[in-house]
Amino acid sequence: MEFGNLCGYFFVLSFVNLACGNLHAPIINPGILTQSKNLGDCQACKLFIESFKRGLERTSRGKYEGGDAAWEEEKLKKSYKRSEMRLIDIQDGVCKDEKKHAVQCHHMAEKAEEFIEEWWAQDPDESADLFTYLCIDKIQVCCPEHHYGKDCTPCPGDHANICNGNGKCRGDGTRKGNGTCLCDPGYTGEYCMDCDAGYYLSYKDENKMLCSRCHRSCLGGCRQGTQKDCVACKSGYVFDIEEGCQDINECDDINKCKKDQFCVNSLGSYACMACDKSCEGCHGDGPDLCRKCAKGYSKKGELCIADREDEDQSDSLTTTRYMTYVGLIIATGILLPKSTTLGSLVGFMVMTYIVGAEYYCMINGHSGLVNLKDYDLSQLFRT
Ligand SMILES: *[C@@H]1O[C@H](CO)[C@@H](O)[C@H](O)[C@H]1NC(C)=O
Repeated sequence: MEFGNLCGYFFVLSFVNLACGNLHAPIINPGILTQSKNLGDCQACKLFIESFKRGLERTSRGKYEGGDAAWEEEKLKKSYKRSEMRLIDIQDGVCKDEKKHAVQCHHMAEKAEEFIEEWWAQDPDESADLFTYLCIDKIQVCCPEHHYGKDCTPCPGDHANICNGNGKCRGDGTRKGNGTCLCDPGYTGEYCMDCDAGYYLSYKDENKMLCSRCHRSCLGGCRQGTQKDCVACKSGYVFDIEEGCQDINECDDINKCKKDQFCVNSLGSYACMACDKSCEGCHGDGPDLCRKCAKGYSKKGELCIADREDEDQSDSLTTTRYMTYVGLIIATGILLPKSTTLGSLVGFMVMTYIVGAEYYCMINGHSGLVNLKDYDLSQLFRT
């Protein structure tokens, strides 16, 4: 189909769509929204504790009716504080405030139920460490800090400087892992004391060592951080004695891309991109960077513009388009008094649409609003 027809068709269709209220919201699979990475059991237990504590907070001001006298109210308040009723209030709300990991939280809440009841019956101080009681001692999914594994073994080495400060002990704080070091990016070795491939030692004193990334042009290692310090250069770079690894401008070779493409150099690489369809060969993107105009287009100033065989058809298309705009604006006008929010939203979308469409038509060589002064507006009312 010729572009002009398509353009007109597009406008009429979208107008009909809007006028008939036929717009469908895209269907999103709700599973995608709720899916999230599984937490470890210890993390889930922490989440449950957080939620339970919010429940304590929520019910801390009591929920008691009646009690005319102050002393009576005070008494009710005291009895609610440790009551079965309050525990039920808390348990009812627990994990409900947890959006992302609600399932795991509820699962943990089930496991925790009997222990929590026991804890509650002991009339604990509310500030008592529920985390240690529940997650470490009872459900046994967590360990104290810097302990790991089934039996909460202490992580090896100096606990103030785990893995030399550049990693963490595998399983730290949980019943998982084997206590070996999981090094941060850039570090390696049993205690993360070495720099990984592609990194160099940039700082070291008796407590601390830092590894930094080699320059992006380096292949393998380097002595320092600049392109002059590379051991070797990556492909797409060439070694210069003065400057080190230098980007190769592949686009200097005019035959690098096909005839209807232009070349874009980037660090270490290049890309071939299609020329605008109004061009036959080009220096860059857009109808203003053609080497030569394509068939059916001719040079007008800087641009290659589509030859128009039929001015009348183009005018009638413009009429259709403007009528669409008028329709859209009227539709917005009808909506606006009914719902300001929706009206404004639609109004904004309509404006965006008009501007976008005009721009689209303009760059494709059709007269847009910019050419309004050349357009006989009375045509709108003559149809
Ligand atoms: C510890 O666990 C990590 C990751 O699970 C594994 O790669 C490593 O080999 C284990 N080390 C030992 C000593 O078991």
